[in-house]
Amino acid sequence: MRNGTHSNVSAAVGGIVLVLAIAFCPTAARGQDGAATFKSKCSACHGADGSGNTPAGKSLKAQDLRAPEIQNKTDAELATLIANGKGKMPAFKSSLSDDVIKSVVAHLRTLKK
Ligand code: HEC
Repeated sequence: MRNGTHSNVSAAVGGIVLVLAIAFCPTAARGQDGAATFKSKCSACHGADGSGNTPAGKSLKAQDLRAPEIQNKTDAELATLIANGKGKMPAFKSSLSDDVIKSVVAHLRTLKK
C-alpha cells in the first residue's frame, strides 16, 4: 500500500516536471524556431530562401514569399494564412503552435529582398 501511494506521488511530480519543460522550452528556443521551422515545414515548397524555386513549389505554384504582395500583409494576416492554409498549401494549425507560427512569420520578414 505504501509503495502504491509513493509511486502515485512520483508520477504526479513527473507530470508536473514534464508540463514545465513543455511550457518553457519553446520560449527559450523561440529565436531560432522560426528559421528551423521554416526549413523543416515550408522550404520543400517555398525554398529555403522563400523564392518557391523548388520542384514542388513550381508544380504547386507556390508564390515567391519575398515579393511585396506577401511582405505587405500584416503579421496577423500571415499567421492566419499559415494556420488555415490556402489553396494547395496545407494548414499548419494542428502541427504548429501559435507561438511557433509567429516566429515563422518573423522569419518570413528576414527573407525580404
Ligand atoms: C505543400 C507545399 C507547401 C508547403 C509545405 C507550404 N506552402 Fe505556403 N504555399 C503553397 C502554395 C501552393 C501557395 C499558393 C496558394 C494559393 O495562392 O493558392 C502558398 C502560399 C503561401 C503564402 C502566400 C499566401 C497568399 O496570401 O498569397 C505564404 C505566406 C506561405 N505560403 C507561407 C508558408 C509557410 C510559412 C509555410 C510553412 C509553415 C508554408 N507556406 C508551407 C505551398 C506550400
